[in-house]
Parts: sequence; structure tokens; C-alpha cells
Amino acid sequence: MNDNLLNIKLEFAKTAVKMAGEFLKSHLHDELEITEKSRFDDLVTNLDKAVQNQIVSKIGERFPKDFILAEEDGVRHDISDGNVWVLDPIDGTTNFIVQRDHFAVMLAYYENGVGKIGVILDVMTDNLYWGNGAETFKNEIKLSLVARPLRQSLIGVNSYMYRTNAGGLLDLSRESLGVRMLGSAGIEFVAILDGKIWGYFSNLSPWDYAAGAILLAPFGYVTTQLDGSALDFDGRQMMMTVPEGQLSEIRKFIK
Ligand code: IPD
Ligand code: CA
Ligand code: CA
Ligand code: CA
Repeated sequence: MNDNLLNIKLEFAKTAVKMAGEFLKSHLHDELEITEKSRFDDLVTNLDKAVQNQIVSKIGERFPKDFILAEEDGVRHDISDGNVWVLDPIDGTTNFIVQRDHFAVMLAYYENGVGKIGVILDVMTDNLYWGNGAETFKNEIKLSLVARPLRQSLIGVNSYMYRTNAGGLLDLSRESLGVRMLGSAGIEFVAILDGKIWGYFSNLSPWDYAAGAILLAPFGYVTTQLDGSALDFDGRQMMMTVPEGQLSEIRKFIK
């Protein structure tokens, strides 16, 4: 696809996500309609659905030939097939419900499985992280990031994986300054971009990592399964986003 159309799509994505953030903030103190999905701690609210509907209809109006993969209500298209938008309308729904803080809106765009656009909005700080896989910006500032060695860093982890030492995560964490659990994949990805944590280990669906993987790529980060193989963008998988240059160190612990 030509650069001009990609730039148009990037600006569209930034605007759509910012508008969603304003919408969520304007409804921040509403009484929420909360529904259980697979179990009591897997929740969705009326605002997750409202944001998804808003962005899905905007994509449909503006780019009617494009496809969409989104978290709620079974909006599923295979990411490797054509021009596909990937949407997580509220990432960190539990944080949103309980804390009214530390949640994100995430939108990515892929062409035949290749990431072209990633946008993550940390809603309550108003910080918009966006990029095209070659450069990443925080608002208007181009980011640079050089990963520190693990022994001088904190790592972001999923609590279940940490508790169960999935893949050897507990062992790896002992080689770090400590672990942090932020409760939103999007907030974890932007914490890596801000240099607050060194990497992220979790159990995620495609809409959780689609934007983050694109935003971290310019800094030599890879987003893969724990054994280093490619994520299949088809269902929930244990994954990691880590500096590629430190993979041999990581491999001593993570399998
Ligand atoms: C969840 C969050 C959470 C992660 C879960 C995700 P949601 O996304 O990112 O941090 O541990 O695996 O499902 O459901 O709040 O969009
Ligand atoms: Ca969810
Ligand atoms: Ca999510
Ligand atoms: Ca979500």
C-alpha cells in the first residue's frame, strides 16, 4: 500500500482512539452495566461495547473494504488475510471498573499479517503512543529506547504466569530488580516504551498485543511465544515482548 494511504490511515487511527478516550473520560463516573463473559473475573462493560461500536462504524464508513478483528461480540477476521484493523476498545477493563485508571484504547492495522500502524492511548494520562513499525512517537515526541541489562531492570508479568512459574518466569524474575503487574497489556507496553520496565510476559489475545508489538519493533524488541516462535494471532497464547539482543540470556530461564 502506498505511503500516502498509510499516513491517512495512521491519522485516522490516532483521531479515532483520541475520540474514544474523550468519550470514556466523559462517562468516567457513570454507573456501568457490567457483564460476566467466561467467568466472574472476565468482565465487559457497556462502555467497552460502545467504544468498539463507535470505532468499528468509523472504520466501516471510511475504509469499507478493510476487515476488522475486535475483542467484543465476535468481530473476528483472520489477521493474515488482507487489510485488517485490530481493536481492543478498553484494555484493562478490570482496572477501568475498579480503579477508573490504568486502562488503554488500542488500535492496530495489519496488511496480510504485517504490522503497519500501532496506536495505544493511556486514557487517564492522555498520552498517545503511535507508530508505523519504523518509528514510534509519544504525542509529538519521537521516542528512543535502549534496553538496560536485565539485572538493572524491572519486568512486567502476568500474575498467573508468575505464580505458576510458567515457562520459568519466576527464575527469570530473580535475575531482575523485581516484577510489576499493571493489569493492562497496553499500559505494560507503554511502560516499556517509557523505560519503566524492561519487558513483558503474559498470556494474551491478538488484540492485546497487536499494537504493542508494532510500537516496540523499532527498538529491537520482539514479541513472540515464550520459546521464541511466532505468535499465531489466533487465540490466547503465552507471549513475551523482550529485547532481541538479550534473547540468549532470556533463554537460560524461559522455555
Ligand atoms: C486484559 C488485560 C490484562 C491481561 C489480560 C487481558 P482486557 O485485557 O490486558 O492485563 O492480563 O490477559 O485479557 O480484557 O482488559 O481487554
Ligand atoms: Ca476483556
Ligand atoms: Ca485487552
Ligand atoms: Ca478489552
